[in-house]
Formats: sequence, C-alpha cells, structure tokens
Amino acid sequence: MIQTTPQPTWAQQFSTPATEFPLTPLPVLSGKLPPGLRGSLYRNGPGRLERAGQRVGHWFDGDGAILAVHFTDEGAMGIYRYVKTVGYQEEEQKNRFIYGGYGMTPCGNLWERLTKPLKNAANTSVLALPDKLLALWEGEPPYRLDLNTLETWGLDDLSGLTKKTPYSAHPKIDPETGDIFNFGQVLAGRPQLMLYRSDRTGKIIQRNSIPLDGICLIHDFVLAGQYLIFVIPPLRLNLLPVLFQLKPFSECFQWQPQKTPTQILIIDRQTLTLVNRIETEPWFQWHFSNGYVEEDGTVVVDFARYPDFKTNQYLKEVATGKTKTLAISTLWRMVLQPQKSQLLQLEELLDRHCEFPTVSPKEVGKKAHYTYLSIHQPGVNSAVEMFNSIGRFNPQTQRLEEANLGENRYPMEPLFVENPDPSQPGWVLTVVYDGDQNSSEVWIFDAEHLEGEPVCRLGLPSVVPNGFHGTWKPH
Ligand SMILES: [Fe+2]
Repeated sequence: MIQTTPQPTWAQQFSTPATEFPLTPLPVLSGKLPPGLRGSLYRNGPGRLERAGQRVGHWFDGDGAILAVHFTDEGAMGIYRYVKTVGYQEEEQKNRFIYGGYGMTPCGNLWERLTKPLKNAANTSVLALPDKLLALWEGEPPYRLDLNTLETWGLDDLSGLTKKTPYSAHPKIDPETGDIFNFGQVLAGRPQLMLYRSDRTGKIIQRNSIPLDGICLIHDFVLAGQYLIFVIPPLRLNLLPVLFQLKPFSECFQWQPQKTPTQILIIDRQTLTLVNRIETEPWFQWHFSNGYVEEDGTVVVDFARYPDFKTNQYLKEVATGKTKTLAISTLWRMVLQPQKSQLLQLEELLDRHCEFPTVSPKEVGKKAHYTYLSIHQPGVNSAVEMFNSIGRFNPQTQRLEEANLGENRYPMEPLFVENPDPSQPGWVLTVVYDGDQNSSEVWIFDAEHLEGEPVCRLGLPSVVPNGFHGTWKPH
C-alpha cells in the first residue's frame, strides 16, 4: 500500500518572489508590545527563488531580502527590501538570471558567463554596526545598507577587504570589548583561511591567514574565551568542474570521511595564530551554538551536528517546494584541551532535530545559560517538514522548553533580546510564516515562558519567507 503524505504548507512562501514593503506601522494582532523592547530586529534570507519562470538551483541562491522592524515608543514599524546588489539590479533590469551561485551554474550568454560567474546574493545574515547595516554572504565582502531605510549603499571593504578576501556570514562580537571577529575562505591561489578582527565600527584592525589543505566548506566558527575555534568537516571541493562551469559548487563538494578527518583548528584570538590542531571522527555542521573556556583551561563547544552532508541535498530541495531527504542534526558538545591538542569529550546533548542555535549576545564566548533553537515538534516527518517550533535548552540541566506554535506555522531562528531592566526577563523574537493564512508575523515571547502564548504578535504587510539569520540592535 502506498502512503501519501499531504503536501506541507511551508512551500507556498517560496512559490512566488517576496514583495518589498515600505516603512509601515505594524498592527498588534494579539497581546501588547513590551514597553522595554526598544531597538531594531533585522532578518536576512533569500526573497526570490525564481525569475521569469526559472527556479534557482539551491535555497542558498535566492537574492537576499532584509526585514527590519523598528520598535519605538510609537509602536513597531516594519520595512522589507531586497539588497540591491550589482547582480540583483542587472538581473532585475534584464528580467532573467545571468549569474551563477552556490547551487547553479551561470546562465547568461557566453560573454556574461566569462565575466559574471558568481553573484553575491547578500542573503545569509546581517551585522548591525553603529552607522550601517551589513548584508553578509560568505563568498565576498558584505553589502552596506542604511540602518533605517535599508537603502543599499554598495559593497563595503571594511577598510581591508578585496573581492578575493571574503567576509563570512557568522561574525562574532565579543560582548566585553566590542571586538568583531570573522573569517573568509580564499579560493583563488593557495587555499587559505583569512582571519579578521574589527573594532566596534567594523573597521578591520588585525588580520592573519592560515593555510588550508584544500577548498573546504567553513560556514561558522566559535569565539570561546581567548580562542577562536574552527571545525573543518571532511568535505573538499573539486574545483575544476566549477571553473569550467560544468557543475555548481554545491555539487562539487565531496564527502570523504575515509580520506579526510574532521579538523579542529584552535586559534589564539590575540595573535590570530594557530595554537593547535586536532583531528577527529567525521561529521558535518553548519552552525555552532557557542563556546567558552572552563576554569581548568578546557574549551567547551556546542554545535548542531549532522552525520554527513545530506543536509545540502535537503536545502537544495527546499527551493523546489518539496523535500524528501532526511538530514537530522542534533545538539552536541565537545570538550578540548587546547594546549595538549586533545579532544577530551564528544557527546550528544539533545536528541532532537534542531538548527540555528543562538545564545544571548551578552554570553557569546562565555558559559551561556541557555541555547535557543529552531526545532521540530515531536513526531514530525523531518524529511518533508520545515522547523515548526522553537525551544530553549539549558545545557546544565538538559531541560528543553518548547513553544507551541500550532499547526502549519514555521518560525525563523529565535533571537534572545535582553531586557534593559536586569531584574526582568528578556524576550525571544522570531518571525513566523503561517502556511494556512499565507502570511508572516513577528512573534515576541517572554523568554521565561516560551511554553505559553507569545506576549505580542505583529502582522507583516506581506509574506517574509523563512530565511537564515538575523540580529537585534538595541536603541
Ligand atoms: Fe548560517
């Protein structure tokens, strides 16, 4: 007997390109705006997965569109704008895809294929600096936007980047010093990992490079006390088919667990130099939750671990509106002895499919009280559904609190926002796509009552499709 699964409702949000909206007062649908919540929420993600009837090759190829929600004494105002990258503007003007991407080969004419092999999609995350917002994409320098109007101002070199020295989508801000650490993987010439330290304005004030043994997939890293930790999965890029435009990047990463161990690089954050390197068993991760140094000098790192690289196929299928590949990540912890180059412990913390782990910005690089996660409701078929809940996990007690979003609602990465009154609990913010209503809302939870109703729900004028990462900038 053939069992048929009803088509999940999440796919609708990706069926047509997202529509921009100007600065608009957002209606309160339930609850009320917390009086202490003052600042701006920014979220980035692919807004356009189709142009003139052609679909992108992978979810990662969609043009970045940014949602800003400004919380003021007068209420919440929302604005949604595509990042007006050079590639976006050109493809908009010609109304066809031209450039290649992570998951698609270039599709322009011969001249265009030679001169425009790769589009900076500016679609992965945002970094809110004092006087500008950066739209991040790991293959190139970021785009610079106006913090209020989201007007695109152009590429930003942060006083040190070139087209060949990318700036990844996962910078880490030290909550004490305001220093911003980030990296970029250089593909041209000898493969290397560029390391950057910026001041609080984003200006790069220190850099170094670490040689790599091939072109790897390094998406995120960890700030843990005085260390930066990189974990390089057993994936290497076969570059030639990419260079000859025969296959896109996403199809040329070879999972080779027999040949290549997982490499853990321990970097000193003061000098940006390699302290030690550890080799261990194979796994893949996109994201880390956080890291810190224990009193005995050991380093603890939490991350969302996949057994292999099938997650890439699942994420490719998301762009088609129908997924079938099972790719489960669960929350893991590793404990390192950095000076002796030892992996002391490797254990699963939470046996639930989860992703987008975040901690309070004040606890980045330190022992955090909680990890916030996108998670599946129990019993969900993870191969066909997207994340449909968020949770708060306490790694000390192993307790997980889960929100109940109901049926056919799909939240984005949860972000913790601290209450300016330290005696009061903070909030957890997410943007929820409602597959039944085909609409998007901003949901605000009391961080201490994730299991209860949200304290406020705000309506958005049009669908803001599920994306990747966001940030909060306090006023
Ligand atoms: Fe990411």
